[in-house]
Amino acid sequence: MKKLILLLIVACCGCKAQTSTVQPTGLIANKAMVVSARAEASKIGSDIMKKGGNAFDAMVATELALAVAYPYAGNIGGGGFMVYRKANGETGTLDYREKAPLAATKDMFLDSNGNVIPGKSTKTPLAIGIPGTIAGVFAVHKKLGSLPMSEILKPVIELAERGVIVTHKQEERLNDYRAELIKINGVNSVLSKVYKEKDTIKYPTLANTLRRIAKNGKDEFYKGETASKLVAYLQSKGGIITMEDLAKYEAKWRNPITFKYKDLKIISMAPPSSGGICLAQIMKMIAPYDLKKMGHNSAEGIQIIVEAERRAYADRSYFLGDPDFVKIPLKALMDDNYLKGRMSTFNIDKATLSSDVKEGAVTYNESMETTHYSIVDQFGNSVSATTTLNAGFGSKYYCDELGFMLNNEMDDFSAKPGSPNMFGLVGNEANSIAPGKRMLSSMTPTIVEKNGKLFMTVGSPGGSTIITSVLQTILNVYEYDLSMQEAVNAARFHHQWLPDLITFEPNAFDVKTLETLKVKGYLINEKNTPVIGKVDAVLVLPNGKLEGGADFRGDDTAIGF
Ligand code: DON
Repeated sequence: MKKLILLLIVACCGCKAQTSTVQPTGLIANKAMVVSARAEASKIGSDIMKKGGNAFDAMVATELALAVAYPYAGNIGGGGFMVYRKANGETGTLDYREKAPLAATKDMFLDSNGNVIPGKSTKTPLAIGIPGTIAGVFAVHKKLGSLPMSEILKPVIELAERGVIVTHKQEERLNDYRAELIKINGVNSVLSKVYKEKDTIKYPTLANTLRRIAKNGKDEFYKGETASKLVAYLQSKGGIITMEDLAKYEAKWRNPITFKYKDLKIISMAPPSSGGICLAQIMKMIAPYDLKKMGHNSAEGIQIIVEAERRAYADRSYFLGDPDFVKIPLKALMDDNYLKGRMSTFNIDKATLSSDVKEGAVTYNESMETTHYSIVDQFGNSVSATTTLNAGFGSKYYCDELGFMLNNEMDDFSAKPGSPNMFGLVGNEANSIAPGKRMLSSMTPTIVEKNGKLFMTVGSPGGSTIITSVLQTILNVYEYDLSMQEAVNAARFHHQWLPDLITFEPNAFDVKTLETLKVKGYLINEKNTPVIGKVDAVLVLPNGKLEGGADFRGDDTAIGF
């Protein structure tokens, strides 16, 4: 009930005079801030900066602290993406996404009739991609860090030893997943046990693994004792990841996707995430419309955003995949005239049917759990990073000897063209499985500049709903004059082309608005998805202070100084 009232209050804020000065409602910090899924991780990241470390040191600390404090999605057995902007305006991104093992094959999740075998890409050892997180944090540290790795890892190892206090939401999550966790890992595995709110879970084996990594570096995970133990564990379960797979894994620096939206410059993740391209397509398609005048979460505003989303996700499904394996017509997909043409079939009186929308005619030469955190440091550097095991607790395979959970990221590939994955996303040849290939992602870590200066760092978990959650958070601040915290709190909606449905957060939208949309032919799913995204963001206020937006949908917390 409290949540509902909050959502309604926030929804009404959209109706306020747009010219008023926006009052911040989130945590305010003078210099530096971390917003993440757990207070323990935000504190460790913030403390690293207090000690003189920069946003990149804090990234390493926060990412690994989440692996301890938030095993639901934080990880060293998964992967992610990071977007950064240095104080001098330089930007870049790091891809530490998982890869398919060398023994993976295109049809590995299909039966002899060519049909997808339910659960094979999500709940078996074959679901596990080669983890990228440790390669990621070491790459960030080498290029951009300033404190010694041992100093950064110290509080993380201490946290694993001291243990993490179970929150109410965590108790609920562990209850929901216990049967599955026991089935795979037995009753004695650390996350199989029964925990109540305020209990402490200690992770001594993870502390040992992290201690070895602190001592021996990245190679400990990819070539050393940890690698041997991991491969032995996976092979004992019937997995296919080898020492060669681990040794060959590399995180990759990639150019960001950048584009203009009015006087904003958006800096987001490039493929193998679809996040940046989809966000660019949607924002370019909606830019000609006066959303502000239509009002926050008004029927017309929702319609325009949904129609742009429908068209962008249709392109996602056809064109996008790992750029190291497929040629992506980046320029053409982000071309203003192409996108104008895509919206030319939009009719304000009537929903477009997804069955009438295919990928665009682009010519080019053939040649549900995640976690996001946002960081701004006292020097003006910023980091936006999203990291995942894919599903909640990933594949549920927890290596007790090493103390961490393995991902089920292989489900993000398109196992069969047109066949939906766990997020209902359909894909095509561009995202088919191949050895060493990265599966397409929706993760959208994003940094926004306004008038050439840092404005916002933002991102979210939520599978296919990540892109639309990031979009709405930016629009909530920029178009609808909400504070950072209000923008995160505001009720969200989502459309992804297929299935042809708009999903709304339940009980949070005006009934009349929904009726108007139904009359125009929109199909509405109000029940199945209780949460769309879980956004963590930082806004730079006009006076230079920082406002955090920590999502109340989780235990997310902003900490700064
Ligand atoms: O990379 C992706 O798009 C997905 N593996 C993200 C999964 C996710 O966000 C689950 N969280 N709710």
